[in-house]
Amino acid sequence: MRKAEPFRIKMVEPIRLISREEREKALTAAGYNPFSLKAEDVYIDLLTDSGTGAMSDNQWAGLMLGDESYAGSRNFFNLSQSVKDIIGYNYTIPTHQGRGAEQVLFPLLIKKGQYILGNMHFDTTKAHIEISGGRAVNFVTEKAFDTTTGYDFKGDFDLEKMEAFIQDKGVENIAFILITITCNSVGGQPVSMQNMRAVSQLGKKYGIRVFMDAARFAENAYFIKRREKGYENKSIVEIIHEEFSYTEGFTMSAKKDGLVNIGGLIGIKDDEALYTQARSALVPLEGFPTYGGLAGRDMEALARGLREGVDEAYLAYRIGQVEYLGQRLLDGGVPIQTPTGGHAVFVDAKKMLPHIPAYQFPAQVLANELYLEAGVRGVEIGSFLLGRDPETGEQCESPLELLRLTIPRRTYTNNHMDVVADALIAIRERAHTLKGLEFTYEPQILRHFTARLKPVE
Ligand code: F0G
Repeated sequence: MRKAEPFRIKMVEPIRLISREEREKALTAAGYNPFSLKAEDVYIDLLTDSGTGAMSDNQWAGLMLGDESYAGSRNFFNLSQSVKDIIGYNYTIPTHQGRGAEQVLFPLLIKKGQYILGNMHFDTTKAHIEISGGRAVNFVTEKAFDTTTGYDFKGDFDLEKMEAFIQDKGVENIAFILITITCNSVGGQPVSMQNMRAVSQLGKKYGIRVFMDAARFAENAYFIKRREKGYENKSIVEIIHEEFSYTEGFTMSAKKDGLVNIGGLIGIKDDEALYTQARSALVPLEGFPTYGGLAGRDMEALARGLREGVDEAYLAYRIGQVEYLGQRLLDGGVPIQTPTGGHAVFVDAKKMLPHIPAYQFPAQVLANELYLEAGVRGVEIGSFLLGRDPETGEQCESPLELLRLTIPRRTYTNNHMDVVADALIAIRERAHTLKGLEFTYEPQILRHFTARLKPVE
């Protein structure tokens, strides 16, 4: 039987589409960089799925039960119990968001100059690795870089390549392996259980520790249930337990599958010494170990959100909505990363705008055009984000030029998805007329957020 959303709507937030003329003005004022738009000038906001979702009535009710004691808040114990039940780890440390967890844990694990091996590290994760003196290296499967190959687990590690690297550099020069589920940077693509198991075995063989960047752990589990043989009849929580049995700790941005607007976690399976160190490191950076930068009420919302985020009916709706948008685009001839991933549809701008070179940022061009067409805000994940080579100053060319249409959880309906799809299909017709971009202001670091651009003549 066809199924609708497993919720009904109790509260609404009005949004409005400003006129084409106003959108043109707003985009010019923003320097052709959607990050600088006022959110009020955006009709459908697909910038990120991070902290942008809707909480349930049960979570809002939980906010009223916040225990704001500085030490020993009851909400901290509720949160620890949720982590124990869902993930199976003994030790929980709250942080203000994912990067807060990274800044506390990574310095404890990395010695200067060591490598941290990942499928594909997220940008803030890479930044915290580098701040801790480490070097981030990626080993995601080559299949991820061909958007038309229909491989089910494009977040998988290329194990042979990673093992050769370990042998070449020497075990003493590797700090740890970090598995990112789902793999955001290549399209919210899942990692298979088989691959996680093999990464864990490789870690054991060489005595290298394995950790998880767990932002979208529940979505990853749902893909395993749907796509991997032997998992069809397992529950989501059983699958999650197995995912985390292959790692000894995690950092998590709880703003994704935790279904909250703010929050993060460090989880440690059973290494009490590491837990003690992390608790001490937490105090000057995030706060006392039973609140870690969060209000008691935020911890309660997260304790409840973690449980709601592993509900199978919710996940079927969630992944189903992403798939719906992906299918509409494919049917309309818009090239996307296939199969669709967990939290977003990634449009292949290199394929859609082949006349615009990497250094004129085709996915940024597409993001701007989508805003002008329908007031929709997406985000570029390509050469504009990647930046320049720190040594030569030359623009690096990203293997993929993607426009990420990131879908907030439980927030928009499929009517909104239709508006997005119709707009991109209309743009495809005139794609060859679009012009590339050049800088009018280029900041030295993290230019993605504040750079200003203009169309090339
Ligand atoms: N790891 C992954 C895989 C992420 O996607 C993010 C954030 C983080 C870590 C950092 O967590 O934002 O809570 O500090 N991703 C967001 C995004 C910002 O838009 O993809 P945070």
